Amino acid sequence: MFDRIIVTGGCGFIGSNFIRFLRRQRPAIRITNIDCLSYSGNLENLAGLENDSNYSFVKADICDGAAMKQALTGADAVVHFAAESHVDRSLMDSRPFVQTNVLGTQTLLDAAHQAKVKRFVHVSTDEVYGSLPLENPELRFTETSPIKPSSPYAASKAASDLLVHAFHHTFGLDTVITRCSNNFGAYQFPEKVIPLFVTNLLEGKQVPLYGDGLNVRDWIHVDDHCEAVLAVLERGRAGEVYNIGADNEHSNLDLTHALLRVMGKGPEFIRHVQDRPGHDRRYAIDSAKIRGELGWKPSRSAWPAALDATVEWYRTHEAWWQHIRSGEYRRFYDTLYASRPEAAAASR
Ligand code: NAD
Ligand code: TYD
Repeated sequence: MFDRIIVTGGCGFIGSNFIRFLRRQRPAIRITNIDCLSYSGNLENLAGLENDSNYSFVKADICDGAAMKQALTGADAVVHFAAESHVDRSLMDSRPFVQTNVLGTQTLLDAAHQAKVKRFVHVSTDEVYGSLPLENPELRFTETSPIKPSSPYAASKAASDLLVHAFHHTFGLDTVITRCSNNFGAYQFPEKVIPLFVTNLLEGKQVPLYGDGLNVRDWIHVDDHCEAVLAVLERGRAGEVYNIGADNEHSNLDLTHALLRVMGKGPEFIRHVQDRPGHDRRYAIDSAKIRGELGWKPSRSAWPAALDATVEWYRTHEAWWQHIRSGEYRRFYDTLYASRPEAAAASR
């Protein structure tokens, strides 16, 4: 259906999993991965693909209009993952979030429009909807829920969603937006809670649990997300938004206890630390639309099996995360914990 697909942010967590997934599912498609290799972009995430004749890598910033114009020429479709993706970083400095997530997306949309690509899939997040209260467990985000982002990260993603909508409405660009819940799986940068906690525990350190630990997230395995993105790429309706979720809600406290159990550690490894400012209480996704229209459903996300397998991946890929947990990573945590002193002890 598409001969040549551009994937942006393919050296990050979800983008690299998506490229591997696409290789397995659609081996004839030629993939060009555009990534600037920011702190979370890692060529090791795609090790083994270097000699694949249907894969090529372009090191470029999505804010670079000339480079995007050149890279997109002749492409059939764009799957746009590249972003600044971590809420805590957006609390420390929101400027790179506006730069990449808003200006970068605008630059890419311009290039896609000029190149007349047949489809632009914008990978967004459930965080654009803001927070749900714990008291009403029946409430879930639908595609028509109001956009009410809490963090600078979520606000920048919401802004990019609006630009995508505008390019569809005004220029007729064939766009589809996906809004997925929290992902877990292999190659996730160990700043996000699951790989952070797992790698802390593997190093014999405590885990910094924010606030009362009762915040709820709906956890989806990254391969289920990739399968949903592929379904949307191939069969989604132009101009539409599709929520993606696995009905796998857990509080952070439950998650932490599950990790402690798998890793054979006791509750003394939990360090309750100062809450994240503006911390969203609950995310919950109603994904009836993608399930009904596209026949997608998650099949790899159920706990404990999927969580246990993820822990095992980090256990057996120590060289991958040890490499990351030095250098820039340490400097980030020194700055984060300087602003939240109670969190510091947990990571030492
Ligand atoms: P990530 O931080 O692991 O990867 C982001 C990638 O984008 C990196 O490879 C980075 O080098 C690249 N990048 C950043 N700025 C760039 C720029 N200016 N130009 C080119 N490349 C750039 O993030 P992730 O967790 O893989 O998230 C991917 C996408 O999925 C994001 O758009 C995010 O908003 C969305 N998303 C993530 C989750 C989640 O749980 N991680 C959930 C829903 C949606
Ligand atoms: P995170 O992985 O940063 O994803 P998001 O904020 O996009 O949902 O965090 C997931 C949950 O885990 C969130 O409620 C914040 C919490 N959390 C902690 O309790 N401690 C931590 O060190 C981190 C990074 C997150």
